[in-house]
Amino acid sequence: MSTILTHMSFKFLKSNQIKLYKRENSKYWQMKIKLPKQQAVRSSTGFKTLKDAEQIAIKNYSFLKKKNNIVIRRNPNNIYKKIHLVESADLNKKDIEFILDEAKKFISFNKKKIKKNNLLEGRTVFNLFFEDSTRTRTSFEVAAKRLSADLINVAVKDSSINKGETLLDTMTTINSMNPDVLVIRHPEEGISKRISESVDACVINAGDGSHEHPTQALLDALTIKNKFKKFTKLQIAICGDILHSRVARSNIIILSKLGAKINVIAPKEWLPKNINTLPVTLYTDMKKGLNNCDVVMMLRIQKERINKKIMPNQKKYFTKYGLDYKKLEYANKNAFVMHPGPMNRGVEIDSKLADDVTRSLIQEQVAMGVAIRMACLEILIKNKDDTLKF
Ligand code: NCD
Repeated sequence: MSTILTHMSFKFLKSNQIKLYKRENSKYWQMKIKLPKQQAVRSSTGFKTLKDAEQIAIKNYSFLKKKNNIVIRRNPNNIYKKIHLVESADLNKKDIEFILDEAKKFISFNKKKIKKNNLLEGRTVFNLFFEDSTRTRTSFEVAAKRLSADLINVAVKDSSINKGETLLDTMTTINSMNPDVLVIRHPEEGISKRISESVDACVINAGDGSHEHPTQALLDALTIKNKFKKFTKLQIAICGDILHSRVARSNIIILSKLGAKINVIAPKEWLPKNINTLPVTLYTDMKKGLNNCDVVMMLRIQKERINKKIMPNQKKYFTKYGLDYKKLEYANKNAFVMHPGPMNRGVEIDSKLADDVTRSLIQEQVAMGVAIRMACLEILIKNKDDTLKF
C-alpha cells in the first residue's frame, strides 16, 4: 500500500526489495531495487501512473535477479573492464590471464554432449566480415550460439556498402537495431577502433588489415598454456610474412606480455620497419632463429596484401622458410608447431608435419578459438551490463 508522506508517496513491492516512490514536485514514479548482497539500483520508471510504474519495476526486478543469479555471474576477479576488444595493446598481463582463465571453463563445456547454456540468451551478436574468412567467422558463430545468443551473419557482399553507403553509416544503421556485440573483420587498419568510438555495442576486432587480430593471439596463448602451463622461460618463433600479418603483431604483443621470449624469423623484406619497437629478436635464417625454441608458429604469405610482381617463388620460399621435419630439428626436442590457418601446404609448412598430431597444435588452436570467443563475448557483455543503469 502506498503511504502518503507530506513530501513523498511510496510503495514497497516484493518483500521490500522494490520501492516505488514519487516526490511531490515530480511527475514520474521512481524505483529503487535492492537485491540481497547487491548494490541498490535507482532509476526513473518513466511513468506517471502507479500501475504502469509497478509493471516496469517488476520487469526490471526480474531482469536484475536473472542477471545476478542465473545469467551473468559476477566474477570478483574481473579486471578487464573494457567493453571492446580491438587491440592487444589495450590488454595488460592480468587482463590476458583473466581472459585465458575465463576460457578454461568452456574447454570442457565444448566437449560435452549437449553444448548449450543460457548465458547470453536474448543477446544479439552481428558478424560483419568484409574479408574472406571461414574459421574465425564460424568460430564466433559457434561461440555465440553455444551461449544462446542470436547471431546474425551480415552478408557483406550483398550489403548497402555496394550502393555507396559509408561503412560508418552501415554501422550506425546496425547500431540502431540495438546489437550487443559487433564482430568486425575489415581490410582497413584501425577501423574496429574507429567504429567502437561511434556505436553503443561492444566491438571485437576479428582482423583489421595487417594490424591486429587479438582473439587469434588469445587462442594461441591458450593453446600454448595448455601444453606448457607457464610462459616464462618459453621461447617462441614466429616465422614468415611478418610484415603483412596481423596474427604476428597480436601474438608478439600478447605472448611477450605473458613473459615468453619471441624470435621473429622472416626474409628481410618482410620485416616491418618498426619491428625494433616490439620486444623481439630478429632472424632471417631459420636455423639460427629456431635454436632453443619450444614453439614454432608459421604464417601464411598474405597474398591478398602483396603485389603479384614481388611475390616470391613458392618452391624457393619453402626451401628457405618452409617448416618441415628437418628444419624443426633446429628447435628444441619435442617443440610444437602452430599455424593460424588457412595453411598453404608445401609453401610455408610441410603437409605431413601439419597433420602430425604429436607435433602440430593446429587443430587444437581451432578448438581453443571457440572457448576464447565464448569467454570474450561473455566478458564484454557483462562489462557492458555493468555500465548500464537501465
Ligand atoms: C588469419 C587472419 O585472417 O589473419 N587467419 C585466421 O584468422 N584464422 C591468418 C591468415 O589469414 O593467414
